Amino acid sequence: MDTLTLQSPLDMHLHLRDEQMLQLVAPLTSQTFSGAIIMPNLVPPVDTKEALIAYKSRILQAIDDHQFEPFMTLFFKEYSKEFLESVKDEITAIKLYPAGITTNSEGGVESIDVISLAPTLNAMSELGIPLCVHGETNGFVMDREKEFMNIYDALASEFPDLTIIMEHITTKEAVDMLDRHDNLYATITLHHLLITLDDVAGGMLQPHLFCKPIAKRYEDRDALLEVALNAHPKVMFGSDSAPHPQHAKEACGCAAGVFTAPIALQVLAELFEKHDKLENLQKFISDNACDIYNIKPLKKEIKLKKYPFEVPAYYKKGDQQVVPMYANQTIQWSLM
Ligand code: DOR
Ligand code: ZN
Repeated sequence: MDTLTLQSPLDMHLHLRDEQMLQLVAPLTSQTFSGAIIMPNLVPPVDTKEALIAYKSRILQAIDDHQFEPFMTLFFKEYSKEFLESVKDEITAIKLYPAGITTNSEGGVESIDVISLAPTLNAMSELGIPLCVHGETNGFVMDREKEFMNIYDALASEFPDLTIIMEHITTKEAVDMLDRHDNLYATITLHHLLITLDDVAGGMLQPHLFCKPIAKRYEDRDALLEVALNAHPKVMFGSDSAPHPQHAKEACGCAAGVFTAPIALQVLAELFEKHDKLENLQKFISDNACDIYNIKPLKKEIKLKKYPFEVPAYYKKGDQQVVPMYANQTIQWSLM
């Protein structure tokens, strides 16, 4: 097959940043995606109704005239039920970060214990607001996600009516969790389907592949591929495309994040085709997410063709310059 049509692709985990970076990266997602879950880890984090509404309108201004819906999230802290009721119609989920675990997460949760978080999580359950979680402890870097599994166990069993999304899973332990609790789901990134720690640090250090959670072992990547390629109904695509200026990536003290927005759909097509699973891409890229979040995306038909595309060395606007995954390399599918 040399062409592929996708209906309303969704990116269920996306960083759009703000100001000039937002202006640069937002159109690169909105050109191909019908909508995206927008991460709230700005400085300061998006944790009030006013900040959320203002951020949404800045996003809508930045997307040119593309048809695109930003699904907004709040940064998790302890919120009252009254507040959540008042903001419910403006948000699609709330994102929980353990404090200090990744970029701009200093204001996150210091200790995730089900008793102290119960008032907020019960209110979210009752109001039907999903909880998205960055699931890492601050242990040894390769074990951080695995060590977080007992926290997922506790959250999922203590709050059985709360929809919990394990964001950007990277391990076979997280894949196994999907079968343990009805209310646990997961997003999977493009880069974690493609790379292992070998690609990041096995040869010359590759700062543009450095992200959190770090890419893991081959058996972990295989477990992720298995559920993504077969469009397991509890997994969905979330790019975690996380742009940082080139100078912040190519630095002593490299910022975490892989920028995949402009190539995500094309490379997913290449990956699913390689494994003879192209017929499952529609579910992974949109249908599963619609079922999990109970959303109806804007109608948008995207056509791809099997035709080589040279990925640019960088994307630039004003004084912002960002390097995408596969910069200066050729990928096998293009946008039509
Ligand atoms: O690599 C990452 N970058 N992981 C995260 O969790 C945050 C993200 C960012 O915001 O840069
Ligand atoms: Zn993220």
